[in-house]
Amino acid sequence: MDVNLTQEDSVWELMWAPYDQPTYQSVLDLIYPDDVVLEIGAGDLRLARQIARIARRVYAIEIQREILDQGLSDRAALPANLTVFPGDACPLPFPRGVSVGVLLMRHCTHFTLYAERLKSIGCKRLITNSRWRLGVEVVDLLASRESFDSVRMGWYACWCGAVGFIPGPVESYSAKMDQIVHEVSSCPRCSSSGQSISLS
Ligand SMILES: C[S@@+](CC[C@H](N)C(=O)[O-])C[C@H]1O[C@@H](n2cnc3c(N)ncnc32)[C@H](O)[C@@H]1O
Repeated sequence: MDVNLTQEDSVWELMWAPYDQPTYQSVLDLIYPDDVVLEIGAGDLRLARQIARIARRVYAIEIQREILDQGLSDRAALPANLTVFPGDACPLPFPRGVSVGVLLMRHCTHFTLYAERLKSIGCKRLITNSRWRLGVEVVDLLASRESFDSVRMGWYACWCGAVGFIPGPVESYSAKMDQIVHEVSSCPRCSSSGQSISLS
């Protein structure tokens, strides 16, 4: 296995265990027939194969050759619209024309990198569980982001991968706040890690 991950906790990213079908279904429900999908960390391709039944084209990147080979062992059955790239998604060039990224990796430490790179190739959406780590969310990659300091109170999610609730006076709380997640930049974790996320 040729793995080139530098951060100590990146070893978590290499944990491979398939998710359950309800999780896959929540991804599939967000894919449209016109979509060109890039799955980052595709494991043995069990989700990529299902996406290929819906989307126009699917690209799948997987770093661990042994796991990928399990999914490729029945090569004849690989759908014609599914292309596989063995390798590390961090440096690997992303194909052009991708409309949606899929990142099912709860312990992902490269959320910012993947989000920025997808946006740079014109990709509009990212379906992922890597920020909230439970359910799947769709990140609108083209949406503008608020400055963390401008949010008075409520839930937030940042492109550094951080999520949380900005507290405020209890009398200001309303249940409506739980329906809104502010996409922010420059959150406290960005500052503490020296990471700078642009507002563009
Ligand atoms: C939690 S598994 C999910 C696999 C697949 N998406 C699924 O749901 O069955 C995450 C996968 O990402 C792969 N992975 C982690 N870091 C990667 C990287 N830098 N490039 C490509 N694949 C990576 C791991 O090897 C693992 O197979």
